[in-house]
Amino acid sequence: MPEAPLTQGDTIQDIEALFDPPHNRAARQRFVSALRKHALVDKAAEMKDAFESAEAPAFKARKGHAPKDLNQVKSAMARNLHYRMYSVMRLHGQEMPWPAVMDDVEENYDAFQDAFATARRLNPAGGTLELDPEFDMPKYMVEQEMHHVPGSFMAEHGPDDLSQGVVGFFGGKIFNGGMPLRRDNPGAVGETVAHFLALKHPNFRPKRILDLGTGIGRNVVPYLDVYPDAEVYGVDVSAPGLRLGHTLWEARGKRVHLSQQNGGMTNFPDDYFDLIVSSFFFHEIPVSLTKKVLRDNFRLLRKGGMVAHMELPPNNAVDPYYAFVLDWDGYNNNERDYCEYRALVPKNLCAEAGFDRDTCFAMLVPNWRSFGNDKFARWASGELPSPPHGNGASWFIFGGTKMR
Ligand SMILES: C[S@@+](CC[C@H](N)C(=O)[O-])C[C@H]1O[C@@H](n2cnc3c(N)ncnc32)[C@H](O)[C@@H]1O
Repeated sequence: MPEAPLTQGDTIQDIEALFDPPHNRAARQRFVSALRKHALVDKAAEMKDAFESAEAPAFKARKGHAPKDLNQVKSAMARNLHYRMYSVMRLHGQEMPWPAVMDDVEENYDAFQDAFATARRLNPAGGTLELDPEFDMPKYMVEQEMHHVPGSFMAEHGPDDLSQGVVGFFGGKIFNGGMPLRRDNPGAVGETVAHFLALKHPNFRPKRILDLGTGIGRNVVPYLDVYPDAEVYGVDVSAPGLRLGHTLWEARGKRVHLSQQNGGMTNFPDDYFDLIVSSFFFHEIPVSLTKKVLRDNFRLLRKGGMVAHMELPPNNAVDPYYAFVLDWDGYNNNERDYCEYRALVPKNLCAEAGFDRDTCFAMLVPNWRSFGNDKFARWASGELPSPPHGNGASWFIFGGTKMR
């Protein structure tokens, strides 16, 4: 393995280019990607078949009716061997991507630090990074290692450390490596929602966009392609991810304003944003904070502004079997608020936060890139249905407009 080149002079090293594992390590990483795909696609199909052909009929024979909700599906499936095998493989597939890239991260540690320092110094894209040394980290973040990532999102191993962010970034390539719709398009959600809004609301041209739980900002950057004049902002509690995001986007010429803040109590002024978005965020936070976040969103939006949040579909939007499959993360993936969140009704949450009920929406939107622009337009006009949810084929979006 050649030594990682340190950044020289006026160039910021693109950190993604440093992911160049040697042969045996790359082979191990490919195995992990394949294991995950095998669990999420192949074993999932076998498990569904076992439910339909054996466990649901057996439940009906015992109880006199088919399983009616996810708890009944869960009790029908609890001892099923396909479900157990699926769970074991998924759990290992969840745990393995991060250690599989840690050697790559450690070997390049100095190069990451150097790239970050260079991005800070040169600041060619004009993005900003505000970290809060006194930040009050929410308890739920510290008390569990979210998603089985050692050190969760925010462990810091030294001053100005971004390596935990890089573990997530490189590990994410392995995590999604067997899933073609996700592998090649890390900003798929932002890209999809931006195109959806542009098509559905052609007169809505947001000037300031905020992304909550932004991570490195991968799902807010695509808004710049659809709304090139917009200012984009991202907040997150994790400093390493924000440092990595700042380094990446400065290297790539994308102006993004990142800050370390709790999405439920941001320091932006009232009426500051036109659009507030998020992806994979709400299921990770306690329900009491969810409500606070949406009320803060309402405060932050100007009149006529919109929220458009992507999340897992809630129980009321899917059948009991799929609700059971989705809730797997709540039982097995160190996400203790996940099931409680998915039991809520997103449109009601928006209306309770102040958004005009008539404007509140919840729907499945096809993944823009894989569906294709033409089909996407036909979907938006009602001519085509959305592909079923799962493995990145479509995204569940909910939101509303501030009318007063
Ligand atoms: C699953 S990640 C999603 C990251 C990003 N949205 C994406 O699509 O890649 C969830 C993110 O939410 C952040 N987070 C958790 N609680 C938060 C809070 N109260 N305020 C802001 N960010 C939070 C985590 O640090 C993490 O980066």
